[in-house]
Amino acid sequence: MSDTETSPRNRSTEEAVSTETPDERSRDGERPPGPDGLPLIGNTIGFLRGGLGFAERLQQHGDVARYTALGEEFVAVSDPQLIESVLVSRNDEFWKGRFENELGELLAPSGLVFTDGEQWRDQRSLLQPLFTPERLRSHTESIRTASATAASEWHTEDTIDLRAACSKLTLSILADTLFTIDLTTARGAIVRDAVSAIRDRTDITNITYVWPEWAPRTPTQHRFDRAMADLDGLIEELIDERRRTPTDHDDLLAALLSADDSVMDETVRDQLVTFLFAGHETTALALTYTLWLLSGHPGVSDRLETELESVESDQPDARSIPALTDRVIREALRLYPPVYLIYREPRREVNLGGYRIPRGTTLQFPAYTVHRDPRWWDDPDAFVPDRWAGTTSRPEYAYFPFGGGPRHCIGMRFAMMELKLALTTLTQRLAFERVSDALTPTPNALLDPGRVTMRVRDRSE
Ligand code: HEM
Repeated sequence: MSDTETSPRNRSTEEAVSTETPDERSRDGERPPGPDGLPLIGNTIGFLRGGLGFAERLQQHGDVARYTALGEEFVAVSDPQLIESVLVSRNDEFWKGRFENELGELLAPSGLVFTDGEQWRDQRSLLQPLFTPERLRSHTESIRTASATAASEWHTEDTIDLRAACSKLTLSILADTLFTIDLTTARGAIVRDAVSAIRDRTDITNITYVWPEWAPRTPTQHRFDRAMADLDGLIEELIDERRRTPTDHDDLLAALLSADDSVMDETVRDQLVTFLFAGHETTALALTYTLWLLSGHPGVSDRLETELESVESDQPDARSIPALTDRVIREALRLYPPVYLIYREPRREVNLGGYRIPRGTTLQFPAYTVHRDPRWWDDPDAFVPDRWAGTTSRPEYAYFPFGGGPRHCIGMRFAMMELKLALTTLTQRLAFERVSDALTPTPNALLDPGRVTMRVRDRSE
C-alpha cells in the first residue's frame, strides 16, 4: 500500500460525514485490520524503530487498527467519537489495563493513576478538594516566585538545556505546593534523585524497560531501587513527623493523613510517588514545547509580549493573563501532547466501531496523531494559536491532552494555571532564541523532545 493512498491526510470525508456514529457501525464482529507482522514478533520492530511515524502509518489501516508488539495485542483508536465512547460514555466497560498496570506495579500500585473501582473512587474524592479553583489560586505566589527565580538563574548562562531547566522549575513548584519540601535541602536531594531514577527506569527506549526478571539486574535498576528506598525512608519520616506534630500545611500529605487511619502508610507513600511522577515532568515538557514553539514564531511571541505589556500589574494572576497565553499553551499541547498515548483495556469482549475487541486487548488513543488529523484541523502541523479563538464544529475528542471522562487528569487546572503563570513570568523577563531549529520528539514514557538548547537574554539589559 502506498503511503498516500488511504492516509488520513487524503482519506475521503465519507466516514466523517456519515450520520451513523462509529459505535453504531456493524461489521459482523470482524477483527480490526492492521499491518502484516513477522511470525512471533509481529510488528515489534516497526513499533520500536518507527517512532511517531509508526502511529501515523498505522492509521492508514483505519481509525481502529490492530497490531502486535512486545508479545501484546494492541488496537489503536483514532476516531474522536470512539475515543469519547471509551473514555466517557462507556467508561465502565474499560479499565486502565495490564499494560499500564505494569508501570503501576513498578512505581506505586495504590496510587491514583493506577487504582480501579471503589478504591479509585474513594481516592479521587479525597484528593479532588486539593484542586478546586480557590485552592489553586492560593499557589499563585509560589508559582510566580519559583518562575522569577528560574528566570534570574537562566539568563546568567550562555545557553540552557531548556528541558532540564523546565523540569527543575516544575519540580520545585510541585515540591513547594503539594509536598511542602524545600528542594535545596538534603530531603530535596532525595526527591530529585528519585525523580531522575524514575525517569530513567520508565524510559521505554532503554533496554532495562523490557529486561527479563530472571536476568542480572542492570545499573539503571540498581539505581532505581536505591533511590526509591531512600525516597521511601523520607516519606516514612514525613508521615511520622506529621502524625507526631500536626502542622497547618495545606498540602497533599495533609489531605491524605486527614482521612483518619483509613489510609494506610503504604497508600500514602504510593500517592506521593504518583504525584511526583505525574505532576511535574508532564508540565515541564508542556512548558519546554511552548517556549520552543514561541521562539520559532516571532509574530506570535511579539504579540504575546505586547499583550503582556498592556496588563496593568507586572504580576498578573491567572485571571488577568491575556487570552493569547491560554491559546498558545493549548496549541502547544495540541502539537506536542506530553501524554501522547492513553491506554485502556475492555473488562470483557466489546464491540467498538463494529469491530470485535476481545478482553485482554490493549486499546491505545494516539493523541499526537489525532491532534494533527486534517479531518479536524486546518493546516494541522502549523503553530496557529488563533485557531483557539471562537467556536468550532470539531468533535470534542479531536483534542484530549488531559484525557477525558472520570479519569481525566486531576491536575489539569493546576497544570494550566502553572503554565500560564510560568510562561508570563518568564516571557516578561527573558527573550529566548533557538540554537538549533531541529526538534524530533521521540515517543518515550512521555513525548520526549530530546535536548532543547536555547540562548536566553534578559529583556532589561
Ligand atoms: C501539562 C501537564 C499535564 C498533562 C499533559 C497531563 C496529562 C494527563 C492525562 C492524559 C491523564 C489521563 C490518563 C488516562 O486517562 O489514562 C492524566 C491523569 C492524571 N494526572 Fe495529569 N497531566 C498533567 C499535569 C498533571 C499535574 C500537574 C498533576 C498533579 C499535580 C497531574 C496528576 C495526574 C493524576 C494523579 C492523574 C490520574 C487521575 C485519575 O486516574 O484519576 N497531572 N494526566
